[in-house]
Amino acid sequence: MKVDVLFGPGGMGPAEMHGRVVVVIDVLRASTSIVVALANGARNVVPFEHADEAAERAKSYERREVVLAGERRMQRIPGFDLGNSPREFTREAVDGKSILFTTSNGTVALVAAQGAEEVFVGAYVNVSALLSVLTSPARARNDLVIVAAGKDRQFSLEDAACAGRFVRGLMDGGGALELNDAACATVMLDKRYGRTLHRMFKDAEHARALVSAGYGDDIAVCAAIDAYPVVPVYADRLITRMSAAQTR
Ligand code: MLT
Repeated sequence: MKVDVLFGPGGMGPAEMHGRVVVVIDVLRASTSIVVALANGARNVVPFEHADEAAERAKSYERREVVLAGERRMQRIPGFDLGNSPREFTREAVDGKSILFTTSNGTVALVAAQGAEEVFVGAYVNVSALLSVLTSPARARNDLVIVAAGKDRQFSLEDAACAGRFVRGLMDGGGALELNDAACATVMLDKRYGRTLHRMFKDAEHARALVSAGYGDDIAVCAAIDAYPVVPVYADRLITRMSAAQTR
């Protein structure tokens, strides 16, 4: 199995995505928020690159069916129901609803991943659940691209370290893996930080920015390994929770 890690959505052309299984990671905070929303009963999450597209799409739903969510510069977008704090995606806020979601980096990478064979959303909160899907007999033959979504289309420490967690999990699965250089580097990051995630979040620029913006409590939610055994899968423009039957 070939495993490529991409730092940021830069290399995500249709040719790179075609026929491959893709995992999009934006630990702080979009991919964590998607997992939490689906765990708390959201019917689906629809990612958008631009806020006005999400607002326009909301008009095609009954108001009670839909939640507009997203951030710019970490803050809730004016007029939206929720921002991008995973703590906002409570059962009370999202149960049974479609979440129209736009963030600075995470949803941009998701939109760019369309056209892949399968697209999953990964974070620390769902590592083991997603790894068991990626290593299932049905998928073990597919080449994998792990997109560490990053910040402002650049490298970010927490997404790269989380990508390394997935790569190490695949290596532990025992199959022969062919890693690109970025994937090798993420393995080193997971070795450095994997047992002391609090240190990694101290070092990570985006974590420090969240603390300054008053969202420091989000970091513990995003660092809670395997807190939500949910596998979000993105197909036909909708992110939904994979059923047990689909995971095999
Ligand atoms: C993103 O998509 O860049 C992030 O989720 C930003 C944030 O932390 O709100």
